[in-house]
Amino acid sequence: MKIAIVGYGGMGSYHAAQLAAYAASGPEYPLELAGVYDTDPARVAAAQKAGLYAYPSPEALWRDKSLGAVLIATPNDVHAPYAAAAAAAGKHIVSEKPVALSCAEAEEMYAAAERAGVLFEVHQNRRWDDDFLTVRALAANGSIGGVYKYESRVVGGNGIPGDWRKKKAQGGGMMLDWGVHLIDQMLLAVPSPVQSLYCTYSYIYGEEVEDGCDLLVRFENGVEYRIVVATDCFRRLPRWMVYGTEGTATVEDWDLTGGVTRCVEREDKNLVGVRAGNGFTRTMAQRSNASVEQLPLPVVHAEPFAFYKNFAAAAAGKEPPAVRKEQVLRVFRLMEAAARSAAENKVIRDKL
Ligand SMILES: NC(=O)c1ccc[n+]([C@@H]2O[C@H](COP(=O)([O-])OP(=O)(O)OC[C@H]3O[C@@H](n4cnc5c(N)ncnc54)[C@H](O)[C@@H]3O)[C@@H](O)[C@H]2O)c1
Repeated sequence: MKIAIVGYGGMGSYHAAQLAAYAASGPEYPLELAGVYDTDPARVAAAQKAGLYAYPSPEALWRDKSLGAVLIATPNDVHAPYAAAAAAAGKHIVSEKPVALSCAEAEEMYAAAERAGVLFEVHQNRRWDDDFLTVRALAANGSIGGVYKYESRVVGGNGIPGDWRKKKAQGGGMMLDWGVHLIDQMLLAVPSPVQSLYCTYSYIYGEEVEDGCDLLVRFENGVEYRIVVATDCFRRLPRWMVYGTEGTATVEDWDLTGGVTRCVEREDKNLVGVRAGNGFTRTMAQRSNASVEQLPLPVVHAEPFAFYKNFAAAAAGKEPPAVRKEQVLRVFRLMEAAARSAAENKVIRDKL
C-alpha cells in the first residue's frame, strides 16, 4: 500500500525515515512512501532534497488513485479537516497524536472514517517504548509484589519548543503534547476504572498554554498513578518510579538504566539508625544489604516497526488496529477531566 505524509516537519520527516526502514525490512504488509505534502516551501524543498515526491496540493493527494493511505503529521488543529478529506477520498488514515483538540472532535473523525469504510488509527507510539514495556514486565513478573503506585515523569529544561505548541488554538500545551502519551500508557498499565483525579498546570514561562502538568489519578483497584510533565526542570529526574509491596524499581531514562530493589527480609534485623540533618532516624535509614536484593530491570525491547506493521495489516483486514477508538476517546475524556481539575483546582470524581 502506498502512503503519503501530510506535514513534513519534525515528526513527518521521522515517519519518512521510519517508513523507508520498514520497507527495507521486507515486511509481510508493505507500506511504500509515495510522497509528502507541506504548506511551507522550505519543508517542500527539504523533502525534495531528501529525494521525496512533493504533492503540489492536498487535492492532488485525494485524486491520486494509487494512494491507499495518508499519515497526518501537521500541527494538531488541522488533523481533523485532513482526516475528513482523506476519509471522503477513501484513504486509510494515520493521525498523529493528539488525534484532535477535543473528545467531540475525535468522535467526529472516527465517525467520518466509519462512514467512509476506511481505517483510522492514531499514532500512540509510546505504547511501544522500551521503558514502558519494561515497567509493564516488571509489574507482571511479580518481583516487587503488587504494584500500588507508579510515577511516570518526563522533564526538560527547554521550555515549550517551536511556535504552534505555544498556541491554544493550534492545540498547544504540554498536556496534549506529552500528557496524551503518558495517559495512554497509564490506562494500558492499570486495568481498572478511574475513581478520581487531581491535576495542576504550570505557566512558568507565561505562555497562554501550560508548560507542564502534574496529574494524580486514583483507580478503583487501589492503584495510584502520578504523571509529571515539565519543561522547566534543569536536572534529570527518574523517568519511572514503581512501588510494589515487595520492592521498589527505578527506570532512570529511555536508555533503561535503573534497577530493582527487592525486599527479602520484611523486618530488617540489621537496621542501623543514622544521623539525618539535625536529628537521628531509624525510620528513614537505608535498608541493610542483607535485607534486600538488587535485581536488574526485566528489560523488554519492542518489536521493530510495531505500529506500521499493525497499521498495514489492519488496512489489509488481517489484524484489528492496535490503537482502538474507545482507548483514544477514554484518554481524551481523562485529559478533559484533568483540564477541568486544573482550571477549577478541584478533585474530579467522574468514573472514567
Ligand atoms: N508521536 C510522537 O512521538 C510525536 C512526536 C512529535 C510530534 N508529534 C505530533 O506530530 C505532529 C507534528 O508535530 P511536529 O513536531 O512534527 O511539528 P512541526 O512544526 O515540526 O511540523 C509540522 C509540519 O506541518 C506543516 N504544516 C503546518 N500546517 C500545515 C497544513 N495546513 N497543511 C500541511 N502541512 C502543514 C509545517 O509546515 C511543518 O512542516 C503534531 O500533531 C505532534 O503532536 C508526535
